[in-house]
Amino acid sequence: MYNAKAYSAGSVKSPLAPTTIPRRDPTEHDVQLEILFCGICHSDLHQVRNEWSDVMPTVYPCVPGHEIAGRVTKVGSAVTGFKPGDLAAVGCMVDSDRTCPECRAGFEQFCPNFTLTYNFPDKHLGGVTYGGYSDSIVVDERFVLRVPSNLALAGTAPLLCAGITTYSPMRHWGVTKDKKVGVVGLGGLGHMGVKFADALGAHVVAFTTSPKKKDDAIRLGADEVVISTNANEMQKHAGSFDFILDAVAADHDINAYIHLLRRDGNITMVGAPEKPLAVGVFGLIMGRRSLSGSPIGGIPETQEMLDFCGAHNITSDVEIIPIQKVNEAYERLVRSDVKYRFSIDMASLRSE
Ligand SMILES: NC(=O)c1ccc[n+]([C@@H]2O[C@H](COP(=O)([O-])OP(=O)(O)OC[C@H]3O[C@@H](n4cnc5c(N)ncnc54)[C@H](OP(=O)(O)O)[C@@H]3O)[C@@H](O)[C@H]2O)c1
Ligand SMILES: [Zn+2]
Ligand SMILES: [Zn+2]
Repeated sequence: MYNAKAYSAGSVKSPLAPTTIPRRDPTEHDVQLEILFCGICHSDLHQVRNEWSDVMPTVYPCVPGHEIAGRVTKVGSAVTGFKPGDLAAVGCMVDSDRTCPECRAGFEQFCPNFTLTYNFPDKHLGGVTYGGYSDSIVVDERFVLRVPSNLALAGTAPLLCAGITTYSPMRHWGVTKDKKVGVVGLGGLGHMGVKFADALGAHVVAFTTSPKKKDDAIRLGADEVVISTNANEMQKHAGSFDFILDAVAADHDINAYIHLLRRDGNITMVGAPEKPLAVGVFGLIMGRRSLSGSPIGGIPETQEMLDFCGAHNITSDVEIIPIQKVNEAYERLVRSDVKYRFSIDMASLRSE
């Protein structure tokens, strides 16, 4: 065991503050990473503030961070895919049982025995897992991803959650050319959704509550932008979408989007607001529309997504911050004031 530097929240009301945490020495299948960048996902904020207390109550101290990119510093004797010096990445999961049907199918995100990167029982050290707001992490090789060499690392880190969470449902629901696809909420997830839908060839409509994001939405790959508070603009798209990805982090009227789906169209929730949404079932019944959810993605598909990003030169648009600005960044995230993902430069933690 060794100590790593980290930022943790000590309670539901505490800001994140510097601390040290234990990390295990790499065992034979482990990869040790020096963390160079870690994205700030809105899930980090939900978790730190215990906003998901019904489903995933927060254990304090909590070290969030599951968009991790870095350099391999040490590998165990049985590791074959990585060597010291390689660039590598870790997302929302660090382990699973590997034997259940979901794991065997490469769907570790549905494994009943997975281990999330933070706030989950730590099988090695006891207590809970600690995430990527830290200078180093040790993860089993199977949950470590390869990073395409052409991608800038600061913008690659967010692909590990915002990227895979938007890529996976688009692949599942058959987003291709000739499909009309909506993306709701231009935050960390939503802006990646626009990039992927565009790269997959769809006609992309971005829905935003922030008029100041309109030009960016087009630059990111949208063909059209709708200010969702404008009922007339919304009505023009009634009954026309094959697929809509809803990446909104707060309470909102999902029925307004269900009505935009064509017959058999699907809307998938990836946003995870604190409170339940009210769904008018007639919107689903009329038109045989469906409402789904989707969690992150499995390890094989996460690697596929990273390789797709390498081939299409896709990274997240990031604002790089030192870790000392993390609490300020959280306040800005609540106000939807980030273009479009904060990426923490972990050199700032190392020099603390
Ligand atoms: N399913 C999964 O596996 C998974 C994975 C990661 C994250 N998540 C969840 O996905 C959600 C989004 O995460 P994120 O990191 O992308 O968050 P984010 O960067 O804060 O983006 C959320 C966006 O939602 C829109 N929005 C915020 N408040 C709103 C409101 N009151 N009404 C309407 N729109 C509003 C804003 O877009 P505009 O300014 O364009 O309106 C905002 O930029 C979070 O709930 C997060 O926990 C789920
Ligand atoms: Zn996330
Ligand atoms: Zn499993």
